[in-house]
Amino acid sequence: MALKIDVLTLFPRMLDGFLSESILGKAIEGGLVQVQVHDLRAWTTDKHRTADDRPFGGGAGMVMKPEPVFAAIEQVQTPGCRRIYLTPDGVPLSPKLAEELSQQQHLVLLSGHYEGIDQRIRDGVIDQEISIGDYVLTNGTLAAAVLIDAMARFIPGVLGEEKSLTHESFTSKLLDFPQYTRPAEFRGMSVPEVLLSGNHAQIERWRQARALEKTRQVRPDLLE
Ligand code: ADE
Repeated sequence: MALKIDVLTLFPRMLDGFLSESILGKAIEGGLVQVQVHDLRAWTTDKHRTADDRPFGGGAGMVMKPEPVFAAIEQVQTPGCRRIYLTPDGVPLSPKLAEELSQQQHLVLLSGHYEGIDQRIRDGVIDQEISIGDYVLTNGTLAAAVLIDAMARFIPGVLGEEKSLTHESFTSKLLDFPQYTRPAEFRGMSVPEVLLSGNHAQIERWRQARALEKTRQVRPDLLE
């Protein structure tokens, strides 16, 4: 059965373009993954549709209120689903985590905003907290988009060729080797001879060596 993802956000329109374009758009259209975006304000009950309030104990900024989020999650959740909160203080997203999540049946992704969310949301209706990196976005919606995109490649049928998965950065623990396409000569820059040779063993060795060289330069930590 296709992976089902519910996204809860205060800015649902941020995902419109992202979900309809390119590889992900095709995957959704083809039923390989099912994504539903919900406006959290739909679960507010006052006439101003209030989703946040001042923090107890004082301090700057606003905190997301528990009631709308509890109501939303309780409505969309299913038995056994994974309820994830996107937050810079979560566990870092890795390819391994993306792959593991892509194999679930149902994910609920909560995007936080403002300076944070009421701790009772985390304690009561969240199973896992995930960060997409050590920087703070204004808006967890982009983080949810990044997570969905990172998972997509692990869903069978989403990437055209099985191969494109195996050769890419991180799947092999090395960064990518350089790629070239036609023309063989462009503004005085030529494609490395070996790639035109037709010698597949030699090409594979060349690619491995370039990948290793690039990784050493840019991400030596990956080689440790
Ligand atoms: N929300 C704001 N910044 C974030 C980050 N780096 N990762 C996940 N969610 C976030």
